[in-house]
Amino acid sequence: MKATWTTVARAGEIPLGSSKVVRLEDMPVAVFHLDDGWYAIDDVCTHDGGPVAEGQLKGCVLECPRHGATFDVKTGAALSFPAVAPVATYPVRVVGDEVQVEWS
Ligand code: FES
Repeated sequence: MKATWTTVARAGEIPLGSSKVVRLEDMPVAVFHLDDGWYAIDDVCTHDGGPVAEGQLKGCVLECPRHGATFDVKTGAALSFPAVAPVATYPVRVVGDEVQVEWS
């Protein structure tokens, strides 16, 4: 299936250092606005399906609120147990005031 850019938010809705969970089809996706850009990951912890974006964000490291696994939101990499598998990431761009996620 061809990937397309989908507008998910206005840039002003996601201040620097914060995130917003959007739904793309049935998948919750968390969009992050960090110092060096915009990032998006599945909002589903690979340990046990927790809503990972509800956890604490320090820099680019996100801690799952369920059991404390950490992920790099830039790469999706699992950084600590109990998660071992990465979360999916998606390209993000801002066009004018529209935050867009590349989604297929
Ligand atoms: S569900 Fe995220 S650490 Fe267990």
